[in-house]
Formats: sequence, C-alpha cells, structure tokens
Amino acid sequence: MTVQTLLEARDLRLVLDKREVFNVARFALGAGEVVALVGPNGAGKTSLLLTLALLQRPSDGSVHFNGILSRRENTLELRRQMAVVFQEPLLMDDTVLGNVLTGLRIRGVTAPTARQRAEEWLERLGIARLRDRSALKLSGGEAQRVNLARAFALGPRILFLDEPFSALDYPTRQALLEEIGLILHETKISTLFVTHDYTEVPYFSHSVRVMVGGRIIKSGSVPEILGDITIPRRIPTPWEEA
Ligand SMILES: Nc1ncnc2c1ncn2[C@@H]1O[C@H](COP(=O)(O)OP(=O)(O)O)[C@@H](O)[C@H]1O
Ligand SMILES: [Mg+2]
Repeated sequence: MTVQTLLEARDLRLVLDKREVFNVARFALGAGEVVALVGPNGAGKTSLLLTLALLQRPSDGSVHFNGILSRRENTLELRRQMAVVFQEPLLMDDTVLGNVLTGLRIRGVTAPTARQRAEEWLERLGIARLRDRSALKLSGGEAQRVNLARAFALGPRILFLDEPFSALDYPTRQALLEEIGLILHETKISTLFVTHDYTEVPYFSHSVRVMVGGRIIKSGSVPEILGDITIPRRIPTPWEEA
C-alpha cells in the first residue's frame, strides 16, 4: 500500500537566541497516518510541532502541505486545514458550545452547519450535557474534551496534538486515550501526536519518531521502537491491522 504524503518537511532547522532548537533532515506524515513524536522534555518536540503546524517560522528548510510549499503568502490558507490541541485547553470565557462555535465561525463555516457540527462533536466527546456551562468552570478532563471537540469540529486534514493528556489524572487520561483512538481510527485524520510518555503511544499511533536534543534519533513502527508492549484496549492497534 502506498500512502500519499500529506505533510513533508526537509532540512528543517530552528535557531532561537543563537541556539539550535532542532535540526531535522526530513519529516513526513502520510494521509491517514498517526505519527507519535516522543522524547524527553526540552527535546524540541513542541518547537517542531509548531513549525510543522505553520505557527512558527523555521530558520531554514521547507514544509510542504499536500504538495504545496508553505510560504508567507499562503500560510493562513494552509493553516485553515489544520487543527492544534495543546496540553492547556486555552478556552475562552464563554459557554462550552460557544467555544466550539467560535472556532468554526473564524473559519467561515455558516451558522447552521457550525451548530450541527459543534453539537455532533460535543456528543461524540461525551460532553453534550455541558454545552451551556461556562467553559472556565470545568474540570481538567472536561476542558480538554471541549478543546478536542473544538479541534475535531473544524474537520482538519491534519491534527496536531501536543501532550494533550499530560495534565490529566490517570483514569481521565486512560478514557480519553481510548476514545481518541477510536475517533482517529474512524475518521482517519492524519495526526502528529507529541508526548513525552511513551506508554501513550500504542493507543493509536502507526509509527514513532524519537527526538532527543533537537534531532530525530530513531524512526520506525511502534513494535520496532517500543518492543512488544501490550495495552488494555477495545480496538485493534494500527500496526496489528496493517
Ligand atoms: N522562544 C524560545 N526562545 C528560546 N528558546 C526556546 C524557545 N522556545 C523553546 N526554546 C528552547 O528550545 C528547546 C526545546 O523546547 P521545546 O520545543 O518546548 O521542547 P519539548 O516540547 O520537547 O519539551 C528548549 O531548550 C527550550 O528552552
Ligand atoms: Mg513540549
């Protein structure tokens, strides 16, 4: 099976304050593929994610999205096809529904469609009952569900997840890992999943890149990188299906 490359970076380098934050010769993400980027704190994972998501301009190198070279003039247009979820939900002082709707309105989705999609994703993430609640008065897990619903509702061609589960307690994290695994399995959204916790990787990643000191030092399938680890789960892991 040949997978179409959706995102490809070449000779990508970021220098901040005269320090090289990362230096990556090639990074590719295929259509429908979930790639986990793992590594210790300070490795440069977030910086690389921000650069690939076109939120940070690299010092050198190129990023192609769907075959199109990203440049200053088309950055906004390309970014509209992406969604990013950070560790902190960054919700606005509005209702849960309002938070999901605003993202859609900014992208020019008409009101009835936005409403329908927002309701659908609140339902899907099990937070429909919270729709009229203030988004600033939620538990950490609920807030991250709103954040994820907001991202999925945008219908992105590529999803960037930067440690979305790291701030959550164990049961909350476990439930979300399984649910997001199911959603990615069904929607086949191309995803870059950044985490420092390799035990999260097998839930839904097809392959792994290990980053240390700003470099990708290892790259391979989940079993190749993590060995024969098993997790409790309800859905088959991607590499077992392949
Ligand atoms: N805006 C910045 N200015 C200077 N250094 C930065 C900046 N952002 C990140 N860094 C440095 O880049 C390195 C990688 O950071 P980061 O990408 O956040 O790593 P990770 O997400 O893997 O923890 C760290 O040493 C950090 O201090
Ligand atoms: Mg980080």
